[in-house]
Amino acid sequence: MTASMRLAAATFALAAGLGLAAAQARPLKITLPPETAAFKPGPNREVVMNNCTACHSSDYVQTQPRGPKFGKDFWTAEVNKMVKVYGAPIEDADIPKIVEYLTQTYSTASQ
Ligand code: HEC
Repeated sequence: MTASMRLAAATFALAAGLGLAAAQARPLKITLPPETAAFKPGPNREVVMNNCTACHSSDYVQTQPRGPKFGKDFWTAEVNKMVKVYGAPIEDADIPKIVEYLTQTYSTASQ
């Protein structure tokens, strides 16, 4: 629950407590913040969307360092870590597709 949701809930509870809810209740308009980063377009993006969005946002990928040291080996190690260390349920056949997408889309400094 965000602070604004808590505030909205508290405001509603207060209004209800004063017996004003029926007369004054209006639909609450809650605007969620936009996602700061989504996975960029690229081949196998949908495989990444299916396997890499359950536990954290795409910001984790977006904020990794770029450059020659952060190519295929780096992303292979990252994906294996998600599976082995954090228990991500990713099928073996999907791993090369995910690594290919991440290497192509997120390894170059200008991306
Ligand atoms: C089962 C849950 C889960 C799934 C699914 C998952 N991750 Fe993670 N991921 C984590 C956790 C836990 C962390 C560490 C969070 C922290 O340190 O705050 C993490 C961290 C990361 C990081 C930050 C660097 C690091 O090594 O800590 C990257 C990059 C990342 N994940 C990429 C991916 C990619 C790519 C996928 C899809 C192949 C994926 N994650 C799927 C749980 C998951």
